[in-house]
Amino acid sequence: MSETPAASTIRWEQDGTGVVTLVLDDPGQSANTMNAAFISSLEAVADRAEAERDSIRGIIITSAKKTFFAGGDLRDMIRIGPADAEQAFRKGLDIKRDLRRIETLGKPVVAALNGSALGGGYEIALACHHRIALDAPGSRIGLPEVTLGLLPAGGGVVRSVRLLGITDALLKVLLQGRRYDPRRALAEGLVHEVAATEEEMLAMARAFIDAHPESRQPWDTEGYKIPGGTPAHPKFAANLPAFPANLRKQLAGAPYPAPRNILAAAVESSQVDFETAQVIEARYFTELVTGQTAKNMIQAFFFDLQAVNAGRSRPEGVEPRQVRKAAVLGAGMMGAGIAYACARAGIEVVLKDVSLEAAAKGKAYSEGLLAKALAKGRTTEAERDALLARITPTADPRDLAGCDAVIEAVFEDPALKHKVFQEIEGVVAPDALLCSNTSTLPITLLAEGVERAADFIGLHFFSPVDKMPLVEIIKGERTGDEALARAFDLVRQIRKTPIVVNDSRGFFTSRVIGQFINEGVAMVGEGIDPASVEQAAAQAGYPAKVLSLMDELTLTLPRRIRDETRRAVEEAGGSWPGHPADEVIDRMVDEFGRTGRSGGAGFYDYDESTGRRTRLWPGLREHFTTGATIPFRDMQERMLFAEAIDTVRLLEEGVLTSVADANIGSILGIGFPGWTGGVLQYINGYQGGPAGFAARARELEAAYGERFAPPRLLLEKAAAGETFTDG
Ligand code: NAI
Repeated sequence: MSETPAASTIRWEQDGTGVVTLVLDDPGQSANTMNAAFISSLEAVADRAEAERDSIRGIIITSAKKTFFAGGDLRDMIRIGPADAEQAFRKGLDIKRDLRRIETLGKPVVAALNGSALGGGYEIALACHHRIALDAPGSRIGLPEVTLGLLPAGGGVVRSVRLLGITDALLKVLLQGRRYDPRRALAEGLVHEVAATEEEMLAMARAFIDAHPESRQPWDTEGYKIPGGTPAHPKFAANLPAFPANLRKQLAGAPYPAPRNILAAAVESSQVDFETAQVIEARYFTELVTGQTAKNMIQAFFFDLQAVNAGRSRPEGVEPRQVRKAAVLGAGMMGAGIAYACARAGIEVVLKDVSLEAAAKGKAYSEGLLAKALAKGRTTEAERDALLARITPTADPRDLAGCDAVIEAVFEDPALKHKVFQEIEGVVAPDALLCSNTSTLPITLLAEGVERAADFIGLHFFSPVDKMPLVEIIKGERTGDEALARAFDLVRQIRKTPIVVNDSRGFFTSRVIGQFINEGVAMVGEGIDPASVEQAAAQAGYPAKVLSLMDELTLTLPRRIRDETRRAVEEAGGSWPGHPADEVIDRMVDEFGRTGRSGGAGFYDYDESTGRRTRLWPGLREHFTTGATIPFRDMQERMLFAEAIDTVRLLEEGVLTSVADANIGSILGIGFPGWTGGVLQYINGYQGGPAGFAARARELEAAYGERFAPPRLLLEKAAAGETFTDG
C-alpha cells in the first residue's frame, strides 16, 4: 500500500489488484467537509489518478468518519460577502473540475456510502458511476442545500437533472431538500444498491469494478437524452410553464431566492453541454452564497439549532437523566399527542383522563397515526405493537405509581390544574419531574398548587405534537436547576428541540404569535381588503396566512387570554394599552357569532360536512372593508416588525435569555418565516442592520402606532453598531 502526503484529507489506498480506495478522512475533524484542505486534496488525487491511470483498475470512494461526507464548510460560507463573489465562483469551478476529471478517467468509480451523504457528500456520489449505500441507522441521502438558502454547486444540479430528469430532480431532490434513508434512496433512483454490512458494500463495489472495466456516466455516452426530455422537447415544454407558477404558490413569493435559482439552473443547464452547465450552476450558486438569505438560514438552521440542541440553555453540572415512565394527565388533543411522542421514544406512558373511555380515546389517536405510518411503510407491525403496548390508558390515579415524570395537559384552568397535581403528587415517584403543558398560565402561579415547587416546570408543546419539533420549557420563579436540566433532557429524549424561557404570561411563543395575529386583524379593522392581508402574510413567507391561523386558534381563546391578562395588569395597578385588533375580534364574536374554525365560522366560511375552509367570509367586506389601502411592503413589515419588536422587549424583560433560542423558537414553533433566520436574525439581517431596522420601526410607529416604537435594547444595539448574538 502507498499513501499520499500526511496533510491530505483523502487517503489513497491501493491494493495489489489495482483497486484504489479513496478514504475521506479529514484529520482532526469529526466530519469531512468541503474545506480548503479537501479541495487541494481532491486536486492532488485527480492528478495522481490521471498520472497512474494505467495501473488503476477502478476506484472506490468511502469515508473513515461516521458520516460519509458532511458537505460545504458552513463556517466558511457564512463569511462570504458580495466582494468575494469572484473567488467563490472560481473555487466552485475547481471542485467541479476535479470531480469531473475522476468521473471521466475511463475507469469505474464507485461511491461506497458508509453513512449519510448529504449535500456535497451526495454530489461526490453523483460523480461516481455506481452508488452503494450502507443501510446504517440514521443514514440519510440527498441534497438539502435549499434548506440553507443555497443550491448544490458541486455538480449536484447538473448531474441530478441528467440522472433523474428535470421534473424528478426538482421535485425529489432539489427543491425541498428531502433526505432519504438508504432504502428510500434506492427506490427513488438516487443509489443503485443498498448493502447490509460494510464488508458487503465493499464486495459489491469490487464486483461492479470487475464487471465494468471501462465505466462512464450515462450522460457521457453518445446520444444520451435526459429522462423526461429537456425544455426543447415539446412534451416538456408544455409542462414547463406550470413549474414557476407552482413554485410561486409553494413559496408564496417570499424573499427567498434559492428555489428560483435552482429552477433556473436546472432548466438552463439541461439545455447545454456538461461543461457549460457547470458554469451556469456555479453562477447561480455564487449569487446565493454571497446574499443575505443564505446567511440567515445557515445561522438559524445550522449554528442556532446546534447551539440550542447542544444545551446552551441547560444548567451545567446536573447529571443527564432519562425518563422511564411518564404520566400524561388529560388525553385530549395535546395529551394524546404527547403520549404518542413519549411512547415513540421508548418511554412507558400512563395516559390518564376522567374516564377510561376518554383515556382510551387518547390512545386511539396513536393507533391512527401508526396505521397511517404503517400504510406508508414508515413503521412495521412489530414496532407499532410495541409502541402501543407502552401506552396504558386509565382513569385511576393509582396507576401512576412509579412515574418519574408527569406531563399535565388538562383544560386550561388553574383550579383544575392544581387539583390534578394534588391528586397525583403522592402517587408518582417522590422525585418525579412535574410539568405542565399550559399554553399561557404563569408557571409560578401553577406551582403554588404543588408541594415540590422546585420540581415544577412548564413544558409547552405545539399542535400537532407528532409533527411540531419544538418544545418551549418555562422556568417558574421557584423552578430548580435540576428540574430545568431534567426537562431539557426529556425534550431531547423524545427527539424534539428545547428552548428555555423564564416565566411570563404567554411566555415567548404564545405572546409573540399574538402580535402577528393582532396585526393582521388590525388591518382588516382599518378597512383593508382581507384577501390582501392574507396575501401579504403568505408573501412575507409565513407558512400560515394570518386570518386562517386565527380561525384555527379560535377567536375566543386569544380573546379570553387577552381579557384575563388585562384584568391581571389592571389589578396590579398597570394600564392596559389595548390593540386595534380588539374591536374586530369582539365584533366577530359578539355581533356575528363567528368564533373560528371549530365553531364552523370565522374569518373564513367552512364546509359543513368536511369542515374545510371554503372562502373568506363575504361579510368581512360588507362590515369592515372600506377600500383603504396601504403599501404592500408596510402590510408585510407590520407583521414581521410586530413580532420582532416584541421579541426584543422579551429579551429586555429577561423572559428570553438566548438569541439562538429566540430565533429557533420563532421558526420551529410559531412559523416566523424561515428565510429570515429567525425573529432576531431578521433584525440583524435587515438592510442597515439593527440601526436600519430601528429607523424603519420609527416610520411604522409614525404611520401605525406606538406599538412599533423601537425598544431601548434595540436602540442600544443600533447605537453601538452591534447585532443580536449570544456572544
Ligand atoms: P382538550 O380539551 O383537547 O383536552 C383536555 C383533556 O383533559 C380532556 O380529554 C379532558 O377530559 C381531560 N381532563 C379534564 N379534567 C381532567 C382530570 N381531572 N384528570 C384527567 N384529565 C382531565 O385540550 P387540549 O387542547 O389538549 O389542551 C390541553 C392543555 O394544553 C391546555 O392547558 C392547553 O392550554 C394546552 N395547550 C394546548 C395547545 C393547543 O394547540 N390546543 C397547544 C399547547 C398547549
